[in-house]
Amino acid sequence: MTHALATLYRLFYDGVLSRLPEPSAIALGQTALRLLPFDRLPVFRLDDPGLAVVLGGVRLPNPLILAAMYYDTRILHRAMGLGFGAVTAKSITTTARPGHPAPNLVRLRTSAGPGLVNCNGFANPGLAAFRAAVARLPHRVPLILSVAGESVDDYVTLARELGPFGDLVEFNVSSPNTRLVYAWSERPQELRALMEAASGATTKPLIVKVSPDFADVNERHIIPAALEAGVRIVNYGNTRRIEEPRLSQGAGGLSGPAIFDATLANLERTRRVFGDRVEIIATGGVDAPDKALRLLDAGATAIGYFTGFITRGPILARQILEALQARA
Ligand SMILES: Cc1cc2nc3c(=O)[nH]c(=O)nc-3n(C[C@H](O)[C@H](O)[C@H](O)COP(=O)(O)O)c2cc1C
Repeated sequence: MTHALATLYRLFYDGVLSRLPEPSAIALGQTALRLLPFDRLPVFRLDDPGLAVVLGGVRLPNPLILAAMYYDTRILHRAMGLGFGAVTAKSITTTARPGHPAPNLVRLRTSAGPGLVNCNGFANPGLAAFRAAVARLPHRVPLILSVAGESVDDYVTLARELGPFGDLVEFNVSSPNTRLVYAWSERPQELRALMEAASGATTKPLIVKVSPDFADVNERHIIPAALEAGVRIVNYGNTRRIEEPRLSQGAGGLSGPAIFDATLANLERTRRVFGDRVEIIATGGVDAPDKALRLLDAGATAIGYFTGFITRGPILARQILEALQARA
């Protein structure tokens, strides 16, 4: 059944979704997620207590995390029933942002498989509107709230105001689409102050999401500073910045299988250098069960993915969970 659904989705992706103009494909996908009750079908999940992991002291029913991309709580609610052990909301900023103008997302066929390049630019409803919506979202699985800002004060405010509604809070200091966030990795000293101040603003376990474009800075400055500030979970990581003339900004963040090798290498190095002082969410390029297993074998505490959810469909979580269960 799982295999049949995976094949059907591939036919749908190759035959329909990948042929539509990107904005229409996004609209179709998000409308389907809002309206169709896929989450009522047990085939998309695999409940097995043996798959549970603990992240920052929070029990996840399994190690799969939907990475940050959606802020619509109807979609987050649906995703919580689609096999993930936790779901991450899109990064929220203190005020609403329209994001960058279209084209802000394009597909990229790579030799490794289908990927995306986006310059979304943090389109989000802002703190007040998101908080009102997320306050009504039941947590079928743990919810990770992602925050992004320009100043230490922004992160403190966001962590304080959103912390009560999430199970964990993630500091996005790595999205390559706006100077706003990407530039933090060029100012590691300020990042230390940010993490110290923000960790005092919430009691929830904290995650720092880092950029694969700054491996040396991450290792030498950002992760040590995070540990000193009491932030023990590293999400490695965000998209990789590339030039992309089709996008309105001329550049964007690459996601999907082309970044998998970097995800694995960054995970292995971080585990080697920091040992069990860090918990690591390995994110970037997972679109098949064997990739998730390789990351877990290399020491990942949990696995994040977004692009695989689009290119391989909601059945991917179940496929990975079956592979995990089979070798348990
Ligand atoms: C359209 C789009 C929007 C995204 N928005 C965010 C965001 O708001 N915050 C964030 O931390 N990451 C964001 N990401 C990055 C993903 O969470 C993830 O780190 C990245 O896509 C790599 O994983 P993947 O290869 O499995 O997609 C976004 C990615 C895409 C494609």
